[in-house]
Amino acid sequence: MHDVSLINRQHRTCLAAALTLLTGCGGVQSSLAPKGPAAAEIAHLSWIMFIGAALILLLVMVLAWYAMYRAPDKRVPVTPNKLIMAGGLAFPAITLTALLVYGVWSMGSIRGAPQPELTIDVTGKQWWWEVQYQRDVPGAAVSTANEIRIPVGVQVRLRLHSNDVIHSFWVPNLAGKMDAMPGRVNSLVIQADSEGVFRGQCAEFCGAQHARMAFFVIAQPRGEFEAWMAQQRAPAAAPASELGRRGAQIFRDNACMECHTVRGSDGIAVETRLGPDLTHIANRTHLAGGTLKNNRDNLKRIIADSQGVKPGSHMPSFPDLGADELEALAVYLEGSP
Ligand code: CUA
Repeated sequence: MHDVSLINRQHRTCLAAALTLLTGCGGVQSSLAPKGPAAAEIAHLSWIMFIGAALILLLVMVLAWYAMYRAPDKRVPVTPNKLIMAGGLAFPAITLTALLVYGVWSMGSIRGAPQPELTIDVTGKQWWWEVQYQRDVPGAAVSTANEIRIPVGVQVRLRLHSNDVIHSFWVPNLAGKMDAMPGRVNSLVIQADSEGVFRGQCAEFCGAQHARMAFFVIAQPRGEFEAWMAQQRAPAAAPASELGRRGAQIFRDNACMECHTVRGSDGIAVETRLGPDLTHIANRTHLAGGTLKNNRDNLKRIIADSQGVKPGSHMPSFPDLGADELEALAVYLEGSP
């Protein structure tokens, strides 16, 4: 006798699994919801492969049914030679050649133009993404973390770097995957056709916190993007309040600038360091490799308990800082009055 509650449970589990699969097509971080030309081409290719494979499966099933259930006296005999020539040579040769031609042709739009308008350097690090605009232009370079802002409708070339292990840059709504490898610069073109925030994720296991190595591509109208760039290019304002000045002092006393840059503030240095550039951190939507919303509580939490938030990361925890010191640091970093 069947246990009815067990069967119900199994049904519910199946239903939940099916729903989970379906929500996977809902758009967030889905290559089946393309929002740019490269992703659209990849989705198109995927559907062609899927439909083709489904048709071939159907054909095989029909042939199997025919072989098993058709009355022997009604079967049309086929010689083995004919079967092998048609089904084993001609059919795969034609379909695979057609797929190859289509795949090579579609690679053009996936690769993008040879000279896109904008180039951004993206470096995969354990475990966050450094994003640099105009890296080679002295005085104009802007460095941010885990957030790539791009203008809508513009092809953007990403130069992908790594200086520790292999990471993989993947923002499924906009483009295919591309590895970021030490000692090599890989190139990937992305373009967003409309405004939006597109989540991306490191897609190559790169250590303990690989899963917490996300990022966001934010596509904005050109005007908004230019305004953001201008604002990012400006150095951080000197702290205006007593609390902010105290925060700057705590920043120095704890040698935070050994790893982090705050451009312009109190003469703290400019070049890239081990950790993210914290200039204008208040403008970012997320912290800690895209895993925490950017707000004051989370900022303080990362400083006090980095190893709790991301065990194994290069940032040590600062458990000895008091609540008032953390508040002062946060006020300074956020540039709050
Ligand atoms: Cu970086 Cu996985």
